[in-house]
Parts: sequence; structure tokens; C-alpha cells
Amino acid sequence: MNSKTLQNQITYQKTMINANLKYFKPSTAKKQKTFLDEITLSLNNKPKSISPKFFYDETGSKLFDEICSLPEYYLYDSEIEILSNIKTDIKSYIDSEIHLVELGSGSSIKTRILLDTLYSLQTSVEYFPIDISDILTHSTQELSSIYKDLKITGIIDTYENGLNFIEHYDDKPNLVSFLGSSFGNFNPNEGIDFLRTISAMMKESDLFLIGFDLKKDESVLHNAYNDSKGVTAKFNLNVLKRINTELNADFDLSKFAHHAVYNELQGRIEMYLKSLCTQTVKIPDVNMSINVLKDELIHTENSYKFSISQIESKLEKASIGINKIWYDSRNYFALVLGQKI
Ligand SMILES: C[S@@+](CC[C@H](N)C(=O)[O-])C[C@H]1O[C@@H](n2cnc3c(N)ncnc32)[C@H](O)[C@@H]1O
Repeated sequence: MNSKTLQNQITYQKTMINANLKYFKPSTAKKQKTFLDEITLSLNNKPKSISPKFFYDETGSKLFDEICSLPEYYLYDSEIEILSNIKTDIKSYIDSEIHLVELGSGSSIKTRILLDTLYSLQTSVEYFPIDISDILTHSTQELSSIYKDLKITGIIDTYENGLNFIEHYDDKPNLVSFLGSSFGNFNPNEGIDFLRTISAMMKESDLFLIGFDLKKDESVLHNAYNDSKGVTAKFNLNVLKRINTELNADFDLSKFAHHAVYNELQGRIEMYLKSLCTQTVKIPDVNMSINVLKDELIHTENSYKFSISQIESKLEKASIGINKIWYDSRNYFALVLGQKI
């Protein structure tokens, strides 16, 4: 293991698994400090909130995979359907050897469809997954055992820091993918800023593949975020368990309930943890007490649903031109291939 320090002063520990697989991770102390600082700040805000990026500890990442296997969670099936159907089409946009960069790679299952496409065009492929979750260590080892020659450099950090890490890696073009409609977690202004960050780091020869969840019947949305097996509820509540484990807090999970509603005006699913009684939660390590009222909502996630004109406008504002938009058979989801203009 050795390390690399970036311009923005983040020191990464490098772990080499084999000649083809390595990953970089900020020190545990730095990760814990960021978690503590952000959580204490957002739980003291009015209204209280917890960033959705903190859902993904090991259990959270496993629960998310479980959500993807639920029939109600149409987002996963829809995007897989599109990716499986566009293998030939997407090749017509690639005219030289290209790397694959993936934002929020998670378990890297959808990645396999993209890798198969790239391997049908070129003899070697380099893959750069970026994910805040340690799941990256498992998913990359699994990929490595399937694609023996695949060169993988994983970055276990935020999207922004990961992009910063790989910028100027070499002159070869990148296919930057951002799947799962994770873009929907950003509020409108943050989303455009994020697209601008991506656009700024892209070379003209790079391609950008991004998934958007489309506006649809409210009952379909409701069921997707309130599944009958209660897996989404477990996923939502798990963030409190994580705060207990990592920050020594004393959230009583039985005193909170999962609450997900569609806000039509804002065009987004809003996810909350609802307090079932008036209570005080303590984080003794930072000498903090958080008073929570009965029925008070702690906001944990927004998941925006888009129209095509909203998608076009957002990409345009970030100077990303659209090459092609693909849809699934139910028109639930759109996958957009773009390029910097
Ligand atoms: C909704 S899941 C999508 C996973 C996969 N791309 C898919 O489509 O099935 C979001 C993934 O992004 C990661 N993630 C969430 N917020 C992040 C952030 N701010 N920076 C880096 N990764 C993040 C999570 O750990 C998780 O693996």
C-alpha cells in the first residue's frame, strides 16, 4: 500500500490487489471526520436532514442491491432493458479506444453490459469506478474475476473528488457513465453545477452516458419507494444505525418510520425518517443532544423525475450536447448519450 496526494490535499491510500486491480481511498480518519462534521451540521439544521450519500455503508449498499431486485423498483429493470438493447447502437458513437469511467458504480452489474460492448470494439479496456461506498472493493474483485484482462483503478470517494483524481489521467477518451438515475438526488441548481463539473473535466472526444427517471403515474412512483417487503424502509432506517455505529449515537430505530411521498409541484419523491414520538438523541463523542418532536421529519433523499425538455435544458446549460436518447418499452426511463459542445 502507498499513497497519492491530490492538488486539493486529499491523501489517498493505494491498495494493489493484483497487477490489474488497484483502488484508492482517503484515510479512515479523514472519512470519519467528514461524516461526523456533515451529520452533526445537518441534524442541527432546520429542517433536519441527512445526505443520501451516507446511506451506503456495507449494509446500505447490500440493501440497495436488494431494492434493485424488487418488482416495484422499475428503475433497475428499465435501465437494464435499455442497456441491453443499445449495445450495437452505442458502438456507432465510439471511433477509437476508450476508457470507462463510472460515477456511483455500486455493485457494477450494469457495468458488465458496457464492458461487453467495449470489449467487442477493442482488445483492452481500462475501468475507473468511483463510489463513496466500500462496496467498490467487492464489486471490482468480482469484475476482475470475470474480465481477467480488465485494468481497474477504483476511487472510493465522492463523485467530485473521484473526477478530480482521474482528470488528466491520459489522452485517451473516456466514456463517463452515471447510471441508476442517481442524478435525480441533486436539487435543480446542484444538478446543473454537477453537470458543469463533469463537462469541465471532459475532453471533446469523451462521451457521457446518463440515466434519468422520467415522470410517470404517481402510483408507480409510490410503490417503487414504498415496497411491500419493506426493504426501502430498512434502507432508509439503516442510516440511523450507521450513525449509531460510527458516531456512537443512540438513535432508537423503533422510534422512527420510513416515509416517502411524491411532491408533484417539485416533481420529486421525498424520503424522510418520521419521528414516532418526542425524543432526544445523543451523540456523546461531540457532546451533542438532538431534540426531535413527534411527527418531525428528517429528510434523507430527493429523487427527481424528469421530462425530456427538463433533461435537454439541464444538459444544454452544462454545455453537453445530446447524441441520442434511448427509452425502455414502458417509457419509464431515459438513457442519454451526450458529448461536450
Ligand atoms: C442509486 S445507487 C446506483 C448504483 C448503480 N450505479 C446502479 O445504477 O445500480 C448509487 C451509488 O452511488 C454511490 N454514491 C451515492 N452518493 C455518492 C457520492 N456523493 N459520491 C460517490 N458515490 C456516491 C452509492 O454508494 C451507490 O453505490
